[in-house]
Amino acid sequence: MRAAVVRKYGPPENFELRDWPDPVPKSGECLIRVRAVGINFADLLQRMGIYPGTPKPPFIPGFEVAGTVEQVPGSTALRPGDRVVGMTRFNAYAEFAVCAANAAFAIPDALRFEQAAAIPVNYLTAFHSMFEMGNLRPGDRVFIHSAAGGVGVAAVQLARARGLVTFGTAGSAKQDFLRKIGVDHPIDYTREDFVEVVRRVAPAGIEMVLDPIGGKSFAKSLRCLGTMGRLVVFGFSAAAGPSGKRSLPRAAKAFAQMPRISPLKLMENNHAVIGVHLGRMRGREEVLRREMEEVLALYSAGQIHPVVGKTFPLDQAAAAHRYIHDRQNTGKVVLTI
Ligand SMILES: NC(=O)c1ccc[n+]([C@@H]2O[C@H](COP(=O)([O-])OP(=O)(O)OC[C@H]3O[C@@H](n4cnc5c(N)ncnc54)[C@H](OP(=O)(O)O)[C@@H]3O)[C@@H](O)[C@H]2O)c1
Repeated sequence: MRAAVVRKYGPPENFELRDWPDPVPKSGECLIRVRAVGINFADLLQRMGIYPGTPKPPFIPGFEVAGTVEQVPGSTALRPGDRVVGMTRFNAYAEFAVCAANAAFAIPDALRFEQAAAIPVNYLTAFHSMFEMGNLRPGDRVFIHSAAGGVGVAAVQLARARGLVTFGTAGSAKQDFLRKIGVDHPIDYTREDFVEVVRRVAPAGIEMVLDPIGGKSFAKSLRCLGTMGRLVVFGFSAAAGPSGKRSLPRAAKAFAQMPRISPLKLMENNHAVIGVHLGRMRGREEVLRREMEEVLALYSAGQIHPVVGKTFPLDQAAAAHRYIHDRQNTGKVVLTI
């Protein structure tokens, strides 16, 4: 098969389209003929060589695919030819991918492959953070960093479906997009200090901040919380510089800027800091499966609409990554085959 392979850690240009051995599914696994691949920010960090647990190059990145079932050895509800979306552990930027059969989900006929590939990582991260770990209720206020991005759009849609009030940041060029997707309090982080905006609208603070930025951002996000406020820490975008090259000093600086959080201070303030990492749900995979079924039901009920901002063919994986480094994306970026 053909695959987009990271030949060595570094900038997007290190992608190469190569012939690669076809994956062979074992019992309990499912081989998918891939039609669309969701690109995640984690893929960029892996390509740069600054994401824990990344294989040594050459490797194929990617955590989610949509396509048709090619083979399913062993007994499962899936059949060859079924349209599915599946969650892989790497190895998604390719013509074929293998995933655990219970990590593949049948998709409705109306859902295009590109849209389906935009669902698992983004919507599960947002859903798990806000409702499973964060227990948000209708009327609660949630602050969403990078609200125009993949997880951001998913969080805005899920929040609106549950009657939450949203604050969301993005660069200047994306402010109309934030309004279009229904962010109640859009914030241009290049012009406004987000803590000031939150405190102006909600002087006593809000119930949740979803923060995947890290570095200096975590301390500022904590300052937005009111009594019973929850900070969800789920990423470290600040580690990635605009060039897309690997810079360990940059990552180390952003790491050093993170606050050291005192448990007693959390108690005094009735605050919680929650870590979320979908890739580390070992032993609790059934939770993600249940959440995925809820998310697909929300799609069928017309309450969420995956937004694919741009697609690139597989042989342009480098351009797709560059597009995200340049902060041009609104919604999800998807590779098509
Ligand atoms: N823990 C988990 O399980 C989990 C799962 C999924 C995603 N995540 C994390 O969630 C975050 C969002 O992921 P995503 O895949 O949905 O990506 P995304 O938000 O679509 O990422 C691109 C956007 O992030 C913003 N951004 C902020 N800092 C950036 C930087 N240093 N370089 C480039 N862009 C930057 C830019 O938008 P603006 O400039 O408009 O803000 C950019 O357009 C990432 O940190 C990711 O690692 C974590």
